[in-house]
Amino acid sequence: MKIEQLEFGRLSDGKEASLWHLSAGDIEVKLTDFGATIVSVICPDTAGIMADVVLGYDTAEEYLNDSIYAGSTIGRVANRIDKGRFTLNGRVYELARNAGDSHLHGGLKGFNKVLWKAREVELENGLSLEMTYLSPDNEEGYPGNLLVRVVFSLKNDNALRIDYFAQTDKKTVVNLTNHSYFNLAGSGDILDHELWLNSEYFLPVNKSLVPIGAELSVKNTPMDFQIQTRIGDRINENYQQLMLAGGYDHNYVISGDTGKFRKAAIVREPKSGRVLEVFTTQPGMQFYSGNFLDGSVKGKSGAVYQKRGGFCLETQHYPDSPNHPDFPTIELYPGRIYREATIFKFGRG
Ligand code: GLA
Repeated sequence: MKIEQLEFGRLSDGKEASLWHLSAGDIEVKLTDFGATIVSVICPDTAGIMADVVLGYDTAEEYLNDSIYAGSTIGRVANRIDKGRFTLNGRVYELARNAGDSHLHGGLKGFNKVLWKAREVELENGLSLEMTYLSPDNEEGYPGNLLVRVVFSLKNDNALRIDYFAQTDKKTVVNLTNHSYFNLAGSGDILDHELWLNSEYFLPVNKSLVPIGAELSVKNTPMDFQIQTRIGDRINENYQQLMLAGGYDHNYVISGDTGKFRKAAIVREPKSGRVLEVFTTQPGMQFYSGNFLDGSVKGKSGAVYQKRGGFCLETQHYPDSPNHPDFPTIELYPGRIYREATIFKFGRG
């Protein structure tokens, strides 16, 4: 892997954000230390034609104003916390309600809106780009100083690997993910993309898009992607869960042992033949079909991000975990290390 650092623009506090170019195999990935964000992934189709397959912006300033979490690292807790409230060690913590009644993606200024420290590191498997951020005690209402480390590595097999680590000095809650929107065609909507998910169960939600509890079988529902199916085939069906979310916006339970790498998804775009495979150690994955995109966001080279112009596969612990003792826990204790990893592998065929 090769790494190059370029200037990306000045932020409102006068600090300078960088753009890091990583290249290996057939692909090039650009990352910025603002929000530990994936800015672009340029990869070939079956005819060798290159395209950028993630949504994002051309300047640091646009990331500062971003409202769709394009490509960023999300924390301290990804997805929704019901009523922005949870109890830990008998104490009630109140967080910002920045999405209706819920706390979403870390709050008003989540990990996607801070400048991380980036540097090249030489690990056993070669060169990587490491980003660290110290989230102070009480930031966005969360307890404990949390030191977060995210390591991005690009391999010759076109796999972008993201390793997440965190440590705290007080008991806290942590759930990190990456919020990249993919469009393997490079433009247009994502309804023709064929999706396979390694999930027999998903979490049904209420009208606030917060899980209502127990896992539900996908069997005989339009939520079932155990056989590769076009995302658009059933998205407008008269099925309550799809109507509540305006499409797919649900946490899928990834089959197999949590903590070990499992294949979570395969996505293929039929015209270009581009393929994305997702592997993760996490227990769940939010499949979001870009339902809230509405053409109001302008991205790279003036692209207009229309409804369903990108999809997200946010590998994560279940949403609203702090309020569901039956979900896999996201509590982190002093002296313990939070560790998760996800691989996005880009191919064609
Ligand atoms: C996640 C959520 C969606 C939406 C997007 C950001 O994917 O599940 O409901 O909030 O982030 O717009």
